[in-house]
Amino acid sequence: MNTRTSRCALAVAAGSLTLSLTACGALGVSSGSSEASPTKGNDITVGLLLPEKANTRYDKFDYPIIKEKVATLTKKQGTVDYANADASASRQAEQLQKMIDDQVDVILLDAVDAHAIADGVKKAKDAGIPVLAYDRLAEGPIDAYVSFDNALVGEVQGRSLLEALGDDIDTSDKIVMMNGSLTDPNAKQFKTGALSELQGQVTIAKQYDTTDWKPENAESNMLMAISAIGANNIAGVYSANDGMAGGIIKALKTAGVDKLPPITGQDAELAAVQRIVTGEQYMSVYKPYPNEAEAAAEMAVAKVQGRGIQFDALASDRVDSPTDKDIPAQLLPVVALTKGNIKSTVIRDGIYKVSDICTGKIESACEAAGLK
Ligand code: GAL
Repeated sequence: MNTRTSRCALAVAAGSLTLSLTACGALGVSSGSSEASPTKGNDITVGLLLPEKANTRYDKFDYPIIKEKVATLTKKQGTVDYANADASASRQAEQLQKMIDDQVDVILLDAVDAHAIADGVKKAKDAGIPVLAYDRLAEGPIDAYVSFDNALVGEVQGRSLLEALGDDIDTSDKIVMMNGSLTDPNAKQFKTGALSELQGQVTIAKQYDTTDWKPENAESNMLMAISAIGANNIAGVYSANDGMAGGIIKALKTAGVDKLPPITGQDAELAAVQRIVTGEQYMSVYKPYPNEAEAAAEMAVAKVQGRGIQFDALASDRVDSPTDKDIPAQLLPVVALTKGNIKSTVIRDGIYKVSDICTGKIESACEAAGLK
């Protein structure tokens, strides 16, 4: 996939929940891409298809935020019909078909398998139901896409790993690269972004694509990497997300490593933020979920209500998928989350309270990190 974005609003740093149209230069932009059909009022149903449960973001943030925003935008008359595919592409195809049969007004789709779902997208379109790709760019005739800037996610991870390895880094230093699921187009972009930073700086001794993004799969791949490279010869680990970082740390501990190398992540999961506090994980990527979820809800409601100008203003970037070109999109910036900015990101944005993070045995590490 090829994304074209102005890398808008990179300056809108850490977790600004107020980030909106102006940050992406979107005001006043009208590409005429959406056919206005002002048919619906507030009594609308938004179908929401999310991909999995292993990663906590979907049930904990994406769904509740979208639900609340749809209610707010429709004077509490609009509803969200939610289905989670639990990492099964065939289950998601059934869930999509059910939404078509139930004649929901618009579908927000976060694909398990972006390629396999294309037929379903076409069926929805044929049934007159617009489909907006959410977070992952589904193939087929989607109307628009809202996501974080996925190449930037990979770049931020790669840069952070180099920063953690320090100034005396050597090109012969060995790292392991644990990438995400091959069915998720984001995983490819994370990898490309990270490689743009890492290549030529370190040796990527082993790399894996992780089936279904499952932590246990990352754990067993890491055990293989350890036996091939040697536990003490691993200078750092690129992990594409936090769930997998958890599996990687387990594998390193099983192999008897007590001084863990720097490990990256993504999603600012609570367990990962706690590991960052104690120093077990070097960083995560904080993706301000409210920005993405609220933008998706706004786009979905504007689409159904035929508010074309607003819809176009919300989607002023353009991306290409393997099947479609010039898809209107909104791509949001992300922030590297390390020990030093926990307060100014996830806490400031109300994602977690200090008391959520600083429990039991990590209290003293919290104090040392200035979290009170
Ligand atoms: C990606 C998503 C990440 C993370 C990952 C694993 O597509 O952008 O935030 O959730 O999947 O589920």
